[in-house]
Amino acid sequence: MKKIKNILLIITGGIAAYKSLELIRKLKDQSINVTCILTRSGSEFVTPLSVASLSGNHVYSELFNLTDENKMGHIQLSREADLILVAPATTNIISKMAYGSCDDLASTVLMATNKPVFVVPAMNVRMWHNPATQRNIQMLINDEIKFIGPEKGDMACGEYGLGRMSETQEIINSILEYDLSLSSQPLKNLSALITSGPTKEQIDPVRFISNESSGKQGYAIAQSLFDMGAKTTLITGPTNISLPQGPSIIKVNTAEEMLLATENLLPVDIAVCAAAVSDYKINQTSDTKIKKIGENISLELTENPDILKRIGKRNSQRPELVIGFAAETENLHKNAEAKLVSKGCDWILANDVSNGKVFGEDENEIVFISKNKSETWNKMTKENVAKKLSSSISDYFSV
Ligand code: CTP
Repeated sequence: MKKIKNILLIITGGIAAYKSLELIRKLKDQSINVTCILTRSGSEFVTPLSVASLSGNHVYSELFNLTDENKMGHIQLSREADLILVAPATTNIISKMAYGSCDDLASTVLMATNKPVFVVPAMNVRMWHNPATQRNIQMLINDEIKFIGPEKGDMACGEYGLGRMSETQEIINSILEYDLSLSSQPLKNLSALITSGPTKEQIDPVRFISNESSGKQGYAIAQSLFDMGAKTTLITGPTNISLPQGPSIIKVNTAEEMLLATENLLPVDIAVCAAAVSDYKINQTSDTKIKKIGENISLELTENPDILKRIGKRNSQRPELVIGFAAETENLHKNAEAKLVSKGCDWILANDVSNGKVFGEDENEIVFISKNKSETWNKMTKENVAKKLSSSISDYFSV
């Protein structure tokens, strides 16, 4: 089960807001980092200073605050969190969530997020039973928002009934029991294919043409797209590393086999061509071992199909997002931009492979190129490149 490390806690304005201070402390006892958004009415009940002191993090409240947006924008706040917890949640925030209003930072983050959201209601019993509240809650349940509580009991207003905020331990238990990997699946309605590894073109029964590709980057991409819920198939050339857990696997040797497997999988939503496909194959593979004849010989090579180009330039069943790599030893930007166009890709991840860099290594330094932007991703592990790419894919499909 994937462990929760970061929670974005939204504290709205109710008398139960004081309980959120204990909640922060107990979440931190579980080694969970807590970042808080305190709404304007929330700050009438608890002070930003106490929330900041307990969480050890800056407290966010205004949507249009230049300093805050510089430190961490509203999208970033959601991105950095594994889940969002609204505690206490007033009738007002529940109504805003149900109708998609965005008139402050808290409601805007809740609209912009693709993370699991837990709501811990706290309100007067009559407000809880009001048909409008119940209608809104049903809408949110249909949207897969999760509710913790409320509980029955004496209320601050002197009444008795349903509406009390759940006890801190109860909230913590519900969160810790929650399996993150099951629901943080923004790609769950999409399908993806990934080509990876080298291809192997046979010269004769014992010799072949291949390359140094380890398959690590493509395997990490397949794993991460699968973890984010995509129906994922990895088409892989021969490698010596462990297969990703979860994706369907198709093993191939030659570029022709890889092309066939790729085309057979269409239609898919996402195609990532990370394979180091052998550009050439032997014109005539020998059925028997080529003998040494005491003089130089020549091997005639024929060009292999360009799998990425075939996919990117299709008129029918072209995946919505076609992503390629560009391995370059010189003129990285220029060559990668040319490949983006010539192969009909939407995005290219370019890397510098001069002096044997990248192949077989655990880290990768990427220049991300699309039709309208180019950005350098600092050197990071191939797993993190995969996660960053998957999250860009998720952003692409969520707008
Ligand atoms: N590619 C492919 N089929 C090929 C050759 C390349 O699908 N026959 C894909 C790779 O998977 C990668 C992209 O095309 O996504 C670029 O590969 P790269 O090796 O950088 O470029 P090439 O097209 O082989 O061109 P060159 O070797 O001239 O740089």
